[in-house]
Amino acid sequence: VAACCRLRRPAASARAFSAEPATDKLVIFDTTLRDGEQSPGATLTESEKVEIAKQLSRLGVDVCEAGFPIASEGDFAAVTQVAKTSGQLTDGRRSGQPMRIAGLARANKKDLERCYEAVRHAPLHRIHTFLASSDIHLEHKLGISRAKCVEISSSMVAFAKSMVDDIEFSPEDAGRSDPAFLVELCEAVIEAGATTINLPDTVGYTLPDEYSSLFAHLIANVKGADRIIWSTHCHNDLGLATANSLAAVEVTLNSLGERAGNTSLEEVVMALRTRPHLFPVHCDIETKQIMRTSKMVATYTGIAANKAIVGANAFAHESGIHQHGMLKHAATYEIITPESVGADSSNMLVLGKHSGKAAFRARLIELGSRRCRRRRGSCSRARCSPTRRTTATRSPRRRRCGCTRSAPAQS
Ligand code: KIV
Ligand code: ZN
Repeated sequence: VAACCRLRRPAASARAFSAEPATDKLVIFDTTLRDGEQSPGATLTESEKVEIAKQLSRLGVDVCEAGFPIASEGDFAAVTQVAKTSGQLTDGRRSGQPMRIAGLARANKKDLERCYEAVRHAPLHRIHTFLASSDIHLEHKLGISRAKCVEISSSMVAFAKSMVDDIEFSPEDAGRSDPAFLVELCEAVIEAGATTINLPDTVGYTLPDEYSSLFAHLIANVKGADRIIWSTHCHNDLGLATANSLAAVEVTLNSLGERAGNTSLEEVVMALRTRPHLFPVHCDIETKQIMRTSKMVATYTGIAANKAIVGANAFAHESGIHQHGMLKHAATYEIITPESVGADSSNMLVLGKHSGKAAFRARLIELGSRRCRRRRGSCSRARCSPTRRTTATRSPRRRRCGCTRSAPAQS
């Protein structure tokens, strides 16, 4: 679950994290297997869920929401299997600990017990329970008062606490809920034993300033706010999920999720890594595993990601000006290297109608029908392989580099 950290509110952010900002750990909660699977057509089999969970573990995810056990026999079995497998998955994890396995449950005893039955097999487990808190949901969906909402939420959190220590509570549709009511509700569930409070922007309605203000308000006003982890969960209906959650990361891969999807893990993590001064937090994600994880999710769900970081064109450059810049120095048009997320760095200069002579020449060099004319030793193409360099040394034009790779120079 992501902790709350905002660009413009360092004071509130400091309350969310007790340690020095530079060492604050951002907990990465991935819900690909639960909310992600709610994407139309993204249904996964039990073995696919287990494979994806293994890869999420390699990726360094801290908490994996494996499903909604009461939803079906299949989901129960899948969450159980993921939970059983999770204990064996510690290899290569920076934290040295297995992933925590969470299951979702509505705030009623049957759901909570079913959820516990599934997640209890994991050495580290969590029950994630929720109840709507916006007036629209209370009136039209649940037909209950605010007071009843507080009563059910706190009693069900207390019930869950009798089974597990780690309890996450989500006031569903928090983005459209009255902040004053959320203060009351959050205090009640913290008192009952919640260890994480997640504020879902369930319908993707909020704007970044509103969402961060909501966190600031609750962190400043809820008694016990400093004892728990604050978490974000954003939907992308207005295309603002990444912007809204940049402080905190509860994410799904490839943006899968209901309707327009959830926040993308890869976008948020790479934003944090690329602008470390603005986000003084760290997380344990192995970014080089991002592409592999994304491809696995795309293969199993049949839903491809065409987007930032993991999209087919995320690192492609077609216009002549950009290509020319890239050939001189990758930092001119790349703020993230393909290698840093485990993407293939070849053929990134796509020849199209906006391309110019520089990329065309580079392509000819790559195809071997032209040699690099740079002076020997001045070619900074780090992606030029050792074999190519040997060839270059043997080039009859000894004063020229002679490499035949057109890949752009590295910064
Ligand atoms: O979007 C949402 O409100 C949810 C909750 C169940 C956490 O997915
Ligand atoms: Zn959701």
